[in-house]
Amino acid sequence: MPLRSVRARGVPRDAVHHPLFARCYARISVNAETRMGMARVRERLLTGLSGRVIEVGAGNGLNFSHYPDTVSEVVAIEPERVLRHLAVEAALRARVPVDVAPGTAEALPVKSEAFDAAVVSLVLCSVRDVPRALAELRRVLRPGGQVRFFEHGRGGGRVMTSAQRALDRTLWPPLSGGCHLSREPVAALREAGFTLGPYRRVMMPENGPALPSSYCVQGTAWRPA
Ligand SMILES: C[S@@+](CC[C@H](N)C(=O)[O-])C[C@H]1O[C@@H](n2cnc3c(N)ncnc32)[C@H](O)[C@@H]1O
Repeated sequence: MPLRSVRARGVPRDAVHHPLFARCYARISVNAETRMGMARVRERLLTGLSGRVIEVGAGNGLNFSHYPDTVSEVVAIEPERVLRHLAVEAALRARVPVDVAPGTAEALPVKSEAFDAAVVSLVLCSVRDVPRALAELRRVLRPGGQVRFFEHGRGGGRVMTSAQRALDRTLWPPLSGGCHLSREPVAALREAGFTLGPYRRVMMPENGPALPSSYCVQGTAWRPA
């Protein structure tokens, strides 16, 4: 029997299943830490956080080593099996306690109002249902809790935005783990009822050519108290 078909009976397929993308992302993302300055971005994203934090779509756990000591616990949700295993390894090296668990952004397996902060980095582009995922973030944050986000989305002139939309309808999502290029994370957060704090537009890579995935935004949003 070919190995591929061996799956224990009754074990459901993962909600997110992108093994090839996961392996590629695990390599590319580690290179991007130094080559594209992602380590600096992650440091800025997480600075000043404290208390209980939920990170959604944690990938291979590259944020974990950047959480400050003031964070008492991180619950990291990752639906993709390959990435989740790498995240578990990264959790062992983190300075703060990190618990990695399966789950999706659209149905977070945690209690309501249990977290002081939520973190999403390069995830809203990939979730199946952005409004539902953001409603879930609101549910699990305490009133007055914050979302730290670093996301890419729509940007550039008319030619670039047309290219982003065309890629979203065709090649891009199947090739990149369900990612979309033309979403608007800031507008989505506002529509979900978050209060936008400071945010900044960032190009990734900062000094390289502008790619359809280059138009990033980093910031903070608050669940109203
Ligand atoms: C581009 S990777 C980013 C990983 C990580 N946050 C980082 O900063 O490197 C996108 C991540 O979103 C996860 N993802 C995709 N769909 C998801 C969903 N519905 N709920 C939660 N995470 C999801 C993927 O498994 C993957 O780990």
